[in-house]
Amino acid sequence: GMTKRYRIALVPGDGIGREVLPPACAVLDAVGARHGIGFDYDPFDWSCERYAAEGAMMPADGLDRIRHHDAILLGAVGWPGTPDHVSLWGLLIPVRRRFRQYVNLRPIRILDGVPGPLANAPDVDFVVVRENVEGEYSEVGGRLNRGFPDEMAIQEAVFTRPGVERVLEYAFTLAGRRGKDLVSATKSNGIVHTMPFWDELVAERATRHPGVAWRQEHIDALVAKIVLDPGRFDVIVASNLFGDILSDLAAAVAGGIGIAPAANLNPERDFPSMFEPVHGSAPDIAGQGVANPLGAIWCASMMLDHLGHPEAAAEVYGSFTHVLATTPVRTRDLGGTASTKEFTDLVLDAIGHW
Ligand code: NAI
Ligand code: MG
Repeated sequence: GMTKRYRIALVPGDGIGREVLPPACAVLDAVGARHGIGFDYDPFDWSCERYAAEGAMMPADGLDRIRHHDAILLGAVGWPGTPDHVSLWGLLIPVRRRFRQYVNLRPIRILDGVPGPLANAPDVDFVVVRENVEGEYSEVGGRLNRGFPDEMAIQEAVFTRPGVERVLEYAFTLAGRRGKDLVSATKSNGIVHTMPFWDELVAERATRHPGVAWRQEHIDALVAKIVLDPGRFDVIVASNLFGDILSDLAAAVAGGIGIAPAANLNPERDFPSMFEPVHGSAPDIAGQGVANPLGAIWCASMMLDHLGHPEAAAEVYGSFTHVLATTPVRTRDLGGTASTKEFTDLVLDAIGHW
């Protein structure tokens, strides 16, 4: 029959980023073959290694080269010796901003067979919707009087009405679709300009989604509640900084950074969206073939969903959750001895057979 083909820009990056993307592609190819979907992968060597050799994470026209791809799969960028702000501002942030990927979506689930750090973890299944292109991570500001006793730094947070409204609209719509409630992370008791503005826009947006129950919580109290009672959350919407911290915390609560996925979405689909595991390049285990490929494989599932193939996405998710629930095979980070390849092979075997 007809095969629908997608062009995927592959950016393995550094360290284990290069070890977890091949499993994700293998899973995509396997599930694609069953659903009439094909993938053409274009690899790009953008990384700290490239930065060391050529002085830039990516070429000057890098973003133009992937502008017309259907999606971007990214492994991880960052390596000892290259300052982390170089890898972030030289690659990840330009992609997120140029391609208007203003939603960073991180599903948090405690999976059967993955023991988390919490003693009695209930059913945990929530989503963090993080604002991804403005807020606290702004370029506005500067440093003065370097090296003098009155040295100083100023960094301005930038919250725009359209920028906040669009991410809130996404979060409220998602909460409505899931039939559950929404929590807005705030700190309007301490941050007295941007956060009250955020709160006002949340209250305004809520009137357009009368079916969604919502509340706001101060970020400090919220992180405590996520640790103490993660089962009570469903959709959490947060600014760039709060969402960044929340989503790593939540990933840890759900059993580790090695399995957590993230999607950087341009919901309008004017530009490609980018899918990347939450973890970094893990220099301590890179090159050993023992990285957990689950975060990247879960990303592949999210990418299928975004491309409009929910059945294929569910099949990928079902395959790795089936392996976790029915076998003791785990990579080292989850207490096992399996290699990346051994675990990936089990997932590939499970596709279409569970
Ligand atoms: P990391 O996530 O690379 O590693 C933290 C710990 O978790 C390490 O012990 C590592 O071995 C383990 N780990 C992470 N992912 C794993 C996986 N898939 N399987 C098994 N174990 C795993 O964070 P770290 O060490 O703070 O950062 C290392 C580099 O990665 C830095 O240069 C940092 O900037 C970069 N980084 C990049 C990110 C990205 O590309 N989005 C995100 C976080 C860090
Ligand atoms: Mg983070």
